[in-house]
Amino acid sequence: MGGFELKWFVGVAVVLMMVQNILGWGKEGHYIICKIAEEYLTEDALAAVKALLPDQAEGDLAAVCSWPDEVRRHYHYRWSSPLHYVDTPDFLCNYKYCRDCHDGHGLKDRCVTGAIYNYSMQLSQGYYDLNSEKYNLTEALMFLSHFVGDVHQPLHVGFTGDLGGNSIIVRWYRRKTNLHHVWDNMIIESALKKYYKSDIMLMTQVLLKNITHEWSDDVPSWEDCKEMVCPDPYASESIRLACKFAYRNATPGSTLTDDYFLSRLPVVEKRLAQGGVRLAEVLNRIFTKKPSVAAQ
Ligand code: ADE
Ligand code: ZN
Ligand code: ZN
Repeated sequence: MGGFELKWFVGVAVVLMMVQNILGWGKEGHYIICKIAEEYLTEDALAAVKALLPDQAEGDLAAVCSWPDEVRRHYHYRWSSPLHYVDTPDFLCNYKYCRDCHDGHGLKDRCVTGAIYNYSMQLSQGYYDLNSEKYNLTEALMFLSHFVGDVHQPLHVGFTGDLGGNSIIVRWYRRKTNLHHVWDNMIIESALKKYYKSDIMLMTQVLLKNITHEWSDDVPSWEDCKEMVCPDPYASESIRLACKFAYRNATPGSTLTDDYFLSRLPVVEKRLAQGGVRLAEVLNRIFTKKPSVAAQ
């Protein structure tokens, strides 16, 4: 590659990385959550998911779990931007749907937990009445799968004043970034490099093994949900974790290194696993085969 071409190539790569920086649980986080979910889908749910996936997914849910982050900045999908998070009043470490689930204009239900209720309702209604063309079920599936991931990222349930850590500038080792990005991307990326030979499937397999071994006693409690979907307790867990682990010792201007990385990585790993198991649970509940009319 000549000097000019190389510079051009590097320039484009840097711009692409900057664009990546402003997106949700990074691409890796969503990919891992959806890969874990795929392993726990029932046969019926897997068939329904495959039937709804867009062609570009080539039958793989994980391939499109970051789609809502890709489109949220496009003019046509700008309305969806507040649906990726829910913030609490500053320094309050609890979450309440009625108080917190609204967008910047105060419009109710426009937040990540409201979106999870909405898209799971659309999918179950649509599945019930396959002839209905009221909803775009392909988009509903991609939004639901993404938002169940987002609500598990502790800083997607952060404080209003700092935009869930987006306005807290910190250093991650030597790199300047913000606290939200550390939790979306940096902790996972550093873990991939340090422990998993940069192999995302290896990291996924290790988490899957933990689900059936180290965490197996806890998994039934992760799945505990009496409704179709239970985003409120997930958001409550997230803001508690944000207070206890994300915001703690991460004030503006601080440099985060091994101490922070090694103590927070177990939190991130468990959130990815919980997100995956719970996404599978909700899809399994939505897509349970209904008795056919003839059999009744
Ligand atoms: N913008 C405002 N608050 C946010 C949050 N908690 N997560 C992502 N983006 C946000
Ligand atoms: Zn998102
Ligand atoms: Zn994010």
